[in-house]
Amino acid sequence: MITIETILDLREQVAEWRARGDKIALVPTMGNLHEGHLSLVRRALTLANRVIVSIFVNPLQFGEGEDYESYPNTLTEDADKLISVDADLLFMPPVSEVYRKPQAELTRVEVPGISDIFCGESRPGHFVGVATVVCKLFNIVQPDLTLFGEKDFQQLIVIRRMTEDLFMPVEIIGVPTVREVDGLARSSRNGYLTERERSIAPILYKTLNEIGDALRRGAGDFDQMEKMANSHLAAAGFIPDYFHILSAEDLSEPDESCKSLVILAAVYLGKARLIDNIQLSLGGSLFYRG
Ligand code: PAF
Repeated sequence: MITIETILDLREQVAEWRARGDKIALVPTMGNLHEGHLSLVRRALTLANRVIVSIFVNPLQFGEGEDYESYPNTLTEDADKLISVDADLLFMPPVSEVYRKPQAELTRVEVPGISDIFCGESRPGHFVGVATVVCKLFNIVQPDLTLFGEKDFQQLIVIRRMTEDLFMPVEIIGVPTVREVDGLARSSRNGYLTERERSIAPILYKTLNEIGDALRRGAGDFDQMEKMANSHLAAAGFIPDYFHILSAEDLSEPDESCKSLVILAAVYLGKARLIDNIQLSLGGSLFYRG
């Protein structure tokens, strides 16, 4: 596996591969790689001849008081894992390579509306940071396709919308969430959980499934189910942030014609903020806000 730190070197390598007619995939990450990231790389390898993985802890997507400074850095282990799954190139630029101006003068990419709700409301500026760095990575690498985990469902929608609105010639592929055996979604932030918190954490996914099952059985009052889920999560020891039943297409309020739903949830548990979601298709049932 080739390791590159500068944009110039990366572009030279990509140009060489392009000249040979190679198809190029990009998997953007912030490192501390786990099975979820490796599943993105494995999928990328089935779709492209060259797979580039970026590891860049993006300061712009962290708010004040968040974990930018303490975000887990496991670079040596990450590189070994990437070699083990046959990634072609690790791109790990320093912050000064990606952000060449002081914060106040940075060009930013904003996807309004969708960036300001749910996780965007709890983490102001987060999705501007994500859209900006992903746009930069797309411009640096110019991949044919790029892969993101569905665990960060709202992030995936923000990136899809940015790509569409700015006519970016790149295919966005969402890859299903990888879970621990007890259902907890794999996440770098699971490492913040104490033993006790780790034993509670799977209740988030369990609750999503209970609400999903109720919807499949025909339960229709979304407000009531969201309230039920929040009190269930609070009783289990989480501090619920949000729990919403939404259209999987664009995270809008579902109406009668909407057949594809996503249930999105975020909770605090000790030092960790956990997010998760499940998607479901409903055949012809009528649902409503109470
Ligand atoms: O999902 C992540 O790890 C990050 O938000 C991303 C997409 C790599 C941008 O920094």
